[in-house]
Amino acid sequence: MSLNIRKKSSEKALVSYRKITKSFGDRTVLKELDLDIYPGEKIALIGPSGSGKTTIARLLMTLEKPTSGTIEVGGEMLWHMPHKGKLAPANEKHLHRVRSKIGMVFQHFNLFPHMTILRNVTEALVHVLKMSKSEADERAMRMLERVGLQEHTKHYPSQLSGGQKQRVAIARALVMQPSVMLFDEVTSALDPELVGEVLDVIKGIASQGDMAMILITHEMDFARDVADRVLFTDGGIIVEEGTPEQIFENPRSPRLQTFLSRFLHGNSDGKMASRVAAGEEQ
Ligand SMILES: Nc1ncnc2c1ncn2[C@@H]1O[C@H](COP(=O)(O)OP(=O)(O)O)[C@@H](O)[C@H]1O
Ligand SMILES: [Mg+2]
Repeated sequence: MSLNIRKKSSEKALVSYRKITKSFGDRTVLKELDLDIYPGEKIALIGPSGSGKTTIARLLMTLEKPTSGTIEVGGEMLWHMPHKGKLAPANEKHLHRVRSKIGMVFQHFNLFPHMTILRNVTEALVHVLKMSKSEADERAMRMLERVGLQEHTKHYPSQLSGGQKQRVAIARALVMQPSVMLFDEVTSALDPELVGEVLDVIKGIASQGDMAMILITHEMDFARDVADRVLFTDGGIIVEEGTPEQIFENPRSPRLQTFLSRFLHGNSDGKMASRVAAGEEQ
């Protein structure tokens, strides 16, 4: 099976990281990363804590600046802009425009506590996209229905469960219609019984949309179900990538084998990745 199963020869990558290095002080956390993500492709990023997964997402979200290298989104440089025939550092306006193609959901939902669920979702539509209130309300309502929260639009975040809050955060990002969505361990802060409803919402979105997704997750069965391609990061590089079958059933590198065996035998949280186990036992 080919590696980029969604990739057609004519298709151009939506997001391209080229030789991206990121250092914090004298600590290099990403080393010359090359990564292409194709329109509509669902990528799962797995790897041990500290391996650079969040940094990969934060660079695309412009929350971190690369130390060197370039990132292209939809044919445009993210951190650079053309200026007098050369590449110059991007200004705020350029960053803002290119970043609008990207949405992100974090581990902690960061909702506005003093705003209703509906207002949380319309806030950026009205203030960033300058949409009329009625148009924003309509779009937000449709999105809240999609994540199953139509009954809660008038509630405040404190009245919702963690799983519901995370679904609001997902709706808030999706309503901006990004072409790529980043999900960074969006279920790690939730009580175990609330994880399923959030993963189900993401699965639903993944199956409907032609939006590209980067899913950073420790939920191996989820990664296996949703991803077209799985990337294993360790020590700031992509150690191995492949289809879910290749990665979970036939891991080649010893580092990936060790990482997955920890999930097989229960990880540090004591959780089991049952699907990994089931897959290997079949
Ligand atoms: N703002 C920062 N300042 C210093 N070090 C950081 C910062 N952000 C991340 N790091 C370090 O970079 C490494 C990779 O972090 P991260 O991308 O969060 O990994 P992961 O998401 O895979 O756990 C870690 O060692 C982390 O401590
Ligand atoms: Mg992280």
